[in-house]
Amino acid sequence: MAKRYFRPSIEALVGYKPGEQPKPGQPIIKLNTNENPYPPSPQAIAALSKLNPETLRRYPDPYATPFRQAVSDVLAVPKDWVLVGNGSDDILNIIIRACAEPGRPVVYPMPTYVLYRTLTQLQLAEAVEVSYGKDFQLPIDELVAAQGAVTFIATPNSPSGHTVPAADLRQLAAGLDGLLVIDEAYADFTESTALALAQEFDNVVISRTLSKGYGLAGLRLGFAIAKPTLLAGLYKVRDSYSVDAVAIAVGAAALRDQAYKDDCIAKVRRDRTLLARSLQALNFKVWPSETNFLLTQPSRGNAEAIYLALKQQNILVRYFKQPGLDDKLRITVGTPEQNAALITAMQALA
Ligand SMILES: Cc1ncc(COP(=O)(O)O)c(C=O)c1O
Repeated sequence: MAKRYFRPSIEALVGYKPGEQPKPGQPIIKLNTNENPYPPSPQAIAALSKLNPETLRRYPDPYATPFRQAVSDVLAVPKDWVLVGNGSDDILNIIIRACAEPGRPVVYPMPTYVLYRTLTQLQLAEAVEVSYGKDFQLPIDELVAAQGAVTFIATPNSPSGHTVPAADLRQLAAGLDGLLVIDEAYADFTESTALALAQEFDNVVISRTLSKGYGLAGLRLGFAIAKPTLLAGLYKVRDSYSVDAVAIAVGAAALRDQAYKDDCIAKVRRDRTLLARSLQALNFKVWPSETNFLLTQPSRGNAEAIYLALKQQNILVRYFKQPGLDDKLRITVGTPEQNAALITAMQALA
């Protein structure tokens, strides 16, 4: 019989499955993991090429001070309100490890980012999943009633693309005894942010990333914003050197180049509208999106078959084989050329 080396809960766990990655050199139009179609800021590239090799010999600054200073300057929050992570996934993981355990549940509306469930299961905590209402209305009463040690709200949300109104978030923060984590991974693509709530409430954490708006998914850099009293608990759980010297230097330079980021975002938002119109012209239902992707449903044909047919043609989109989503596709907005190739391929399938 095979030896069981792992905790029973790990043996039973179905691990998180990241979006498919092409093999090196494979020509692919990759519209499945919501990366920015544009390269990082030239300032970030310059910071990378200027990096002194000595910074690689030493351990990095455990507090990522130059990066936190850049966050402070750009978002007008004090530096000691910022905690860095190896991508925002690391931030989410730190929060769950600090707060959740058996008897201390994690609560979130569905559908949302699937990683919340996996991280919760690792802590042997209960994941309380509450369905979104019609047109993605936030089920505030049910979320409050569940009284999670942590409640996650992704806004804008994935895979729906909608934003949750600030008034709903405020009501939720006021009703919860536990932490409210507002996952703003896609905040750069919209005007709305809940940053002010981190100032207003003791129990609110905002999570951000450089993976989406700044085109730096490969760098792995995310950060949390919350009151220092709250961050003090998270620091106990965090790995001191989780953010490396390259990420600190490159991330700070990227963040300071707001003009470049805004330019990329404007292009993505413009092309989001165009792509939505093209999909609607093919009789796809398209949900309004405040992100760099679209949730869409074919009026006929089956979503999985379309996903597979596109994959055959080296176009990757995201298909979730789960209730409520298995008749839909999530498509990242690409460059105008990538979007045109996608639409041409879809026309041929229609
Ligand atoms: C809602 C949401 N939060 C967080 C993340 C994680 O981003 P990263 O770990 O690259 O910062 C993602 C990535 O797709 C996401 O969709």
